[in-house]
Amino acid sequence: MMRMPTGPGETGKVMEDAEQEAARRAAEAGQEAVVEAPVDSEAIEAAAAARALIRGRRQWPLPKQADPTAPLLTVENLRTHFKLESGWVKAVDGVSFRLDDGEALGLAGESGCGKTTTALSLVRLLPSNARIRKGSSIDLFGIDLVPKTEDQLRRYRWREISIVFQGAMNALNPVRRIGEQIAEPIEVRLGLTQDVARKRAAELLELVGIPRQRAAAYPHELSGGMRQRTMIAMALACDPAIVIGDEPTTALDVMVQAQILELLERLRRDLGLSLILITHDLSVIAETCDKTLIMYAGKVAEEGPVSRIFTAPRHPYTQKLLGAFPNIHADRRSLETIPGSPPDLRNPPAGCRFNPRCPAAMDICREVEPPEVVYPDGVRVACHLHVAGRDGAVGVTSADVVGWHRQLPVIEAPGVPAVASAGVAEPPGPGSQP
Ligand SMILES: Nc1ncnc2c1ncn2[C@@H]1O[C@H](COP(=O)(O)OP(=O)(O)OP(=O)(O)O)[C@@H](O)[C@H]1O
Ligand code: SF4
Ligand SMILES: [Mg+2]
Repeated sequence: MMRMPTGPGETGKVMEDAEQEAARRAAEAGQEAVVEAPVDSEAIEAAAAARALIRGRRQWPLPKQADPTAPLLTVENLRTHFKLESGWVKAVDGVSFRLDDGEALGLAGESGCGKTTTALSLVRLLPSNARIRKGSSIDLFGIDLVPKTEDQLRRYRWREISIVFQGAMNALNPVRRIGEQIAEPIEVRLGLTQDVARKRAAELLELVGIPRQRAAAYPHELSGGMRQRTMIAMALACDPAIVIGDEPTTALDVMVQAQILELLERLRRDLGLSLILITHDLSVIAETCDKTLIMYAGKVAEEGPVSRIFTAPRHPYTQKLLGAFPNIHADRRSLETIPGSPPDLRNPPAGCRFNPRCPAAMDICREVEPPEVVYPDGVRVACHLHVAGRDGAVGVTSADVVGWHRQLPVIEAPGVPAVASAGVAEPPGPGSQP
């Protein structure tokens, strides 16, 4: 296994090796030996079993075009840019990842690195100046969502992927009872009757820990934590496969934050939900997620199992990010800062986008974009210090990234039923299944 450099001298040696290796690789470009990607057949079998279990508990059938054997979500080479008069902002620029049934992925990185844009691209809730570039793909159950029309996307938004935003609790309508507000998307999007929708809203409230009698309450009668729970109930209203939380607990005090996270964790376990959790609080990812993806300036810096990334970060940016995060056991004076700031994404630096701030930057970093490699423990990293062929690392393309089963979803209590709404069948409705 790759051992991280422990001091400036050693870093220099690693840099020298890496530079030589990178030069050798550049010279051999085009005739580089193809290295077999690691295949973990046990992981493949476990992921297939989890997929069958979770999909078997769905309240609605899979969309008609779905491939039942396809992974839940694969995002390949996603590029989402914003048009400004002064140029294009390359907010998300070649991001690939995969999310399996029941899995929780934590998305982290400094402000402006493209976390929200990645999330909004999945359900295309983007501002009007955004464009998802050609060559990007977002496959849900094997269905590419990128070419879907706005009408067709309605089948997937909220019904398969829903989002809870930061401070979303303030988006509740102050003059309507919360039960009605939860019932509304069930009526409108699923086409169910008002009675069934109200019953389901009451069940959802109980599911998130609010007594069903409180369905008659107005938002101002609830605490902040209860309002955020109500928003989570709304996100669950259509029984989605994936819930994205974009800083869902930022506006809450630490106790309520812990309760909300515990709730999300329980829902994931009991309902087989998959989560994408965006947060600046790395401890939340460490506690809640199976894997984490660290973004920098619109790109993936490092991705892999939480247990690996948090104990042995390999990318200099991840190391800095973790060093800048307060740890209850650490001496406060030892907290690091990352000098400089993220680049202007209209005109990002050539080569590695982190190079102006990286203490380990080499000449090649200023010229050549680092290719992604994956280590046998499932950590993917894009940095010239990490080269294919060393310590078991293999070079990967975005297609490899989404094609592998590297992570076992955590599935427990398989018998726990989903939101009880017995007798509710797949709702009819024009255009409900493109
Ligand atoms: N509508 C827009 N027009 C132009 N640029 C935009 C627009 N929305 C976002 N951006 C830019 O895209 C980049 C990524 O923004 P994004 O909101 O995705 O970052 P983030 O990682 O979610 O940040 P934060 O942690 O602050 O929420 C930033 O440089 C931001 O300024
Ligand atoms: S993070 Fe970027 S700049 Fe630093 S060593 Fe790796 S490739 Fe070079
Ligand atoms: Mg954001």
